[in-house]
Amino acid sequence: MTVIRSQLIGTGYKLPEKVLTNDDLSKMVDTSDEWISTRTGIKSRHIAAQDELTSDLSYEASLMAIKNAKIQNQDIDFVIVATVTPDNTFPATAAKLAKKLELKPGTPAMDVNAACSGFVYATQIADNMIRLGEIKTALVIGAETLSKITDWTDRNTCVLFGDGAGAVILQGAECEGKNTDTGILATKIYADGNQYEHLYSDSGVSLNQKAGFIHMDGKEVFKIAIPSLVQGVEESLKIAGVQISDVDWYVPHQANLRIIDSVAKKLEIDMDKVIVTVDHHGNTSAASIPLALAETFEKGKFKKGDLIAISAMGAGFTWGGIVVRL
Ligand code: COA
Repeated sequence: MTVIRSQLIGTGYKLPEKVLTNDDLSKMVDTSDEWISTRTGIKSRHIAAQDELTSDLSYEASLMAIKNAKIQNQDIDFVIVATVTPDNTFPATAAKLAKKLELKPGTPAMDVNAACSGFVYATQIADNMIRLGEIKTALVIGAETLSKITDWTDRNTCVLFGDGAGAVILQGAECEGKNTDTGILATKIYADGNQYEHLYSDSGVSLNQKAGFIHMDGKEVFKIAIPSLVQGVEESLKIAGVQISDVDWYVPHQANLRIIDSVAKKLEIDMDKVIVTVDHHGNTSAASIPLALAETFEKGKFKKGDLIAISAMGAGFTWGGIVVRL
């Protein structure tokens, strides 16, 4: 039976010019390259300029994805931006982006806040709309300017995060309905609000009319991150009807190399098949997976037919996974 599946036809990314190294950070707070590298695997991260907004990074990433997909801006039927650092409280950053990209009048545009799992959530929404036949082509973005909600005096958090944006173009195509099809074979998302206090912004519009700073209980997050990332992969593989041994590449949320290592061990997937960008991106929350995808495409590592497993976890807690064949 033929089915419609979302094909990943283009990716793009944008990183701010400014690079902040661990040595730079050691001049700002009581830390060292040695501490940050051994605990997290992070060496450097990109930091947005004061006047560089989440919508600006999204725009540049989108232009690159549109070009790589060989489509026109007017082919896009839906735009969704996953972010916890929108330009404004409202309207959605996606609406500003739709205007900048001169999308067709009436093209639906929305943001989604699922923290570091935002791209997985946004992809599930877009994929479902494509499979239902409501739209043909979607622009899905993860974009963050986390530096603007980072307390640069708090060494517990300021060494971890970075800024950037990644974009993907999904387009519906008829497939055979088999696990050998190309396109998105599965998405799965989860949340557990009981973990709300482990990772959060200490302010909010309704709470105190501010954006606040990131707070985190690193040890708790670390503990829960590993089984969540494993579950995201295992459950989406099950839905897709494929095995871990079929997977050519695993693209995890890029928070911490020690977390990625542990997850790879638990999944019994070789680190050669795991995409790691946390060393030079830091944790860019919703941007981390599309950034990693786009950068790896640019390097020419991915090949047509490759099976990619993706999983993310973040504040909420939220978590989930995607399985896609190129
Ligand atoms: N530089 C130097 N020392 C630091 C430091 C820094 N940047 N940040 C914290 N420390 C100190 C702590 O104050 C603590 O000192 P103390 O023992 O005197 O109190 C010591 O280092 C050890 O801290 P600890 O919390 O035990 O370190 P850790 O091994 O758990 O590593 C994290 C901390 C944050 C790297 C780790 O918990 C982690 O990666 N957690 C997950 C974070 C994450 O991925 N979040 C996003 C998920 S989407």
